[in-house]
Amino acid sequence: MSWRISLSPVRKIVLAGNWKMHKTQAEALEFLKGFLPQLENTPDDRDAILCVPYTALGTLSKSLHGGRVRLGAQNVHWEENGAFTGEVSAPMLTEIGVDYVVVGHSERREYFGETDETVNRRLKAAQAHGLTPILCVGETKAQRDAGETEAHIFSQLEKDLVGVDQNNLIIAYEPIWAIGTGDTCEATEANRVIGLIRSKLTNPNVPIQYGGSVKPGNIDEIMAQSEIDGALVGGASLEPDSFARIVNYKA
Ligand code: 13P
Repeated sequence: MSWRISLSPVRKIVLAGNWKMHKTQAEALEFLKGFLPQLENTPDDRDAILCVPYTALGTLSKSLHGGRVRLGAQNVHWEENGAFTGEVSAPMLTEIGVDYVVVGHSERREYFGETDETVNRRLKAAQAHGLTPILCVGETKAQRDAGETEAHIFSQLEKDLVGVDQNNLIIAYEPIWAIGTGDTCEATEANRVIGLIRSKLTNPNVPIQYGGSVKPGNIDEIMAQSEIDGALVGGASLEPDSFARIVNYKA
């Protein structure tokens, strides 16, 4: 077992895979066959989460039950039920053993009209039903080039976190220009921005992840940064060996 030396309460380390719209149920089970055996010696200082498509949640819940890996969804509606075609509610997720949910991913904000207001409603609904939300924030390339990174992220935090319980929350800093591009944000720059995000929180122990082209080759450097408490991983979480290497990062 390894320990993080800190004077403040120890922040949780959370490595989460976001499969996005990838994998059928059969493919998800095939992934687990390769992935789970590689977690047998994973230090218990870290949580591992798989955020998978709705269709794979039930199957994976049975396979992961009582084990090392927890389950997450990729979105949640703010109402418990109603005429909201295509949406899924928090009680529907908790019933099948889901513990976490990604909220406000940039792909939902960009392609599906997610706003800070809907993000805020989803966060509160998730928490009201015992889910832990993973709130995604981050700037576009144009915002970064214009020197607006900090202002944009602070604005997202201010609007998204109204009435949100910071004792049951994970934040992921995902610079949009680093997502799926192989163009990872420098670890020291991600650390700087995450430190700024932390300075805006009422609970400084909220785990804050970095996301954007995280790979087996850069995870150790990312996790060596003092402010970074984990990673939200897209492409590299789809393959058992690469996501296992990320979860088993070397401290
Ligand atoms: P990639 O790891 O594929 O860049 O995706 C990051 C991401 O969007 C995770 O939510």
